[in-house]
Amino acid sequence: MPLCYNNLVLDSHLKDLRAEHLSGSWTDNFFFNLTMDYISIQKQGLITILQFNRPEKKNAITSGMYAILADTMQEATEDRGVSCLLFTGWADFFTSGNDIADFLNRPESRENMPVKRFLQQLAIFPKPMLASVTGLAVGVGTTLLFHCDWVVAGDNATFAMPFINLGLCPEAASTLLAPQIIGHHFAAEAMFWGEPMSASWAHHCGLVNRVVPSAEADELALKMAKKLTEKSPEALMETKRLLKASQRELVLARMLEEGEVFERLLKTDSSRAIFANFLNKKTVV
Ligand code: COA
Repeated sequence: MPLCYNNLVLDSHLKDLRAEHLSGSWTDNFFFNLTMDYISIQKQGLITILQFNRPEKKNAITSGMYAILADTMQEATEDRGVSCLLFTGWADFFTSGNDIADFLNRPESRENMPVKRFLQQLAIFPKPMLASVTGLAVGVGTTLLFHCDWVVAGDNATFAMPFINLGLCPEAASTLLAPQIIGHHFAAEAMFWGEPMSASWAHHCGLVNRVVPSAEADELALKMAKKLTEKSPEALMETKRLLKASQRELVLARMLEEGEVFERLLKTDSSRAIFANFLNKKTVV
């Protein structure tokens, strides 16, 4: 019998086989799992799990994927059946960040571009957001974590913000949030050099709450999320609102400012040459 969620018609039997790497506990109480445009949306009780699911491209995020993430978050905001969100990826990679081919083919910037809508949702989403990071978290894979309320890293996790290596500037208000959350020196180290940083580095500087063996990260994240579903949703949302209140407008303003610079840099010949080089098999990270 098809189910309806987020305006999508789902077939509850269409469990995507690619979700099977998730540990037993994720699937034991399986409610539904839909994969479309490389994002798996799994609903487990009051938890919505958003899984990057484009393994053949190391989970690089396309405009279509941003649209699904933004739409799901927007609808989850009003949905009383959602208490919290959990971002996750695959065992060896969380995400390799924005799809670089999309950078080359990006249309003129618009207010309602999917990437902008997603970043804005990160800033305004009113319910707890958790993340389980195993393997590579590149670009927005790392900057989205500055918006999360709780993050677990597998011991194989690496974090990289190679924006400058691509001739770009950081986004997602990370130029504001990174110095606040991890401190200026760690932020500058990660952003200026753009090199992959280890899970222990991320724990030491306060980017992640816990580091566990990578096979246990999803399970711990789900356990923490489940605990939140037993608490008053209103009390949680009010507490999150108060924790973030002094920052909200600043974050949105910084996203706009970064966005303008980013769009300008994206069009330079030097950046476009770097994107083309990458697509011709030269690595960035
Ligand atoms: N955008 C588009 N395609 C990407 C991608 C990205 N961000 N990251 C990986 N891919 C693609 C590769 O082009 C390759 O595609 P192909 O098999 O069709 O040639 C495939 O995913 C596998 O990637 P590959 O580079 O072969 O894997 P690797 O293990 O050697 O390296 C990374 C993995 C993530 C270190 C490397 O792919 C990389 O540096 N990616 C770019 C990361 C980045 O700069 N993101 C943007 C941040 S703003």
